[in-house]
Amino acid sequence: MKKIDIKIPNNFYQVYLGSNIFHKLSNLDVIKRNKNIFLVVDKNLYLNHRDKISLFYNNIGTKKFLYVFEATEKNKSFTEIKNIIAALIKNNFGRDTLLISIGGGITGDVASFAASIYSRGIKYINVPTTLLSMVDSSVGGKTGINFGNTKNIVGTFYQPDLVFIDIEFLKTLPHEEIVCGMGEILKYGLLIGDNFFEEIKNKRNKILEFNSTTIIDVIKNCIQFKSDIVRNDEKEKTGLRKVLNLGHTFAHAIEVEQKHHIKHGQAVIAGLACALHLSNKINLLNDSNLEKYLPLLISFADSIDIQKYDTKKLYEIMKRDKKNKDEKIKFVLLKKAGELFVDIETKKEDVIYALNNGLQYYKA
Ligand SMILES: NC(=O)c1ccc[n+]([C@@H]2O[C@H](COP(=O)([O-])OP(=O)(O)OC[C@H]3O[C@@H](n4cnc5c(N)ncnc54)[C@H](O)[C@@H]3O)[C@@H](O)[C@H]2O)c1
Repeated sequence: MKKIDIKIPNNFYQVYLGSNIFHKLSNLDVIKRNKNIFLVVDKNLYLNHRDKISLFYNNIGTKKFLYVFEATEKNKSFTEIKNIIAALIKNNFGRDTLLISIGGGITGDVASFAASIYSRGIKYINVPTTLLSMVDSSVGGKTGINFGNTKNIVGTFYQPDLVFIDIEFLKTLPHEEIVCGMGEILKYGLLIGDNFFEEIKNKRNKILEFNSTTIIDVIKNCIQFKSDIVRNDEKEKTGLRKVLNLGHTFAHAIEVEQKHHIKHGQAVIAGLACALHLSNKINLLNDSNLEKYLPLLISFADSIDIQKYDTKKLYEIMKRDKKNKDEKIKFVLLKKAGELFVDIETKKEDVIYALNNGLQYYKA
């Protein structure tokens, strides 16, 4: 079992990472110390791993509650937060409660938001069970729910006390969801630099075929890179953390415009393709680099079906993105892998060009 230290000013926690390690979680001090434990478990995960979860549940705490959560973007909502809080109050959980989420990025975002506001903040452990949540969303402390048509517009910064990753859970994850995880991994390839991008390209099939050593290495690299960024800009104040939004301004708009028929990670792949085309259109990324990075993104086209889309609507949705100021769309763009620029404003026609070029590969 590997341990990765996440050091953030005034905060420190560890990520445990390994294969077939879930049974060790109930023996950790942080669990043993807490008598009151509230579990938020993804419904599909629960259906696939009921025995493991039940055994864990039986081994922990004295007062406990199992809240089974249906992970959909629609349920990243105040209604679900209200339901979780109502269950906490009804069952007399106080400030000394430990909340544990077991599930993907949606479950983690909702459960951590609830943990951050209940009794002004209770202890929180994240057990990510999708590839996307293992490489990205479980670390960094962003919690959140959607509101109206805007993704993640309500939320807090709240770091977990521990992140526990058992890649064994990935064995029941549908292929489509592995592709979603690849979306964030590709983002890290473009953020970290050419060597890591090449590594991902070479290991693409090993990841899809579930090679444990490869998956653990990739998760470790992504988490280490993200934690370095978060350490230096936890609350997205200096601009450094903004690089993590590469492709995401496009992706969030694609998700909303497609009415969430397309998943976050799939939208990230299409969004990265748009960001590459936009970077090329404004002469930041040269043609040879565009041609170097695109094929790996396009190699997932079979698993992404974007229905008929409206570029004007996509543009309007992007203008409402929470990261914008004065209705100006701010993009994260790149000169090459590892060389990023944030807060770039471009002409509307360049954005439309990027949308048409980036989305063409993924049309249903
Ligand atoms: N907080 C952050 O920093 C951050 C970063 C990136 C993404 N996100 C958010 O994460 C969300 C996407 O997360 P996701 O891709 O993990 O999706 P998800 O949570 O919807 O999970 C995907 C699907 O897999 C199922 N599932 C989960 N684990 C399983 C398992 N082991 N076996 C079988 N089925 C399983 C879920 O029920 C769901 O149907 C988005 O809402 C996005 O906004 C947050």
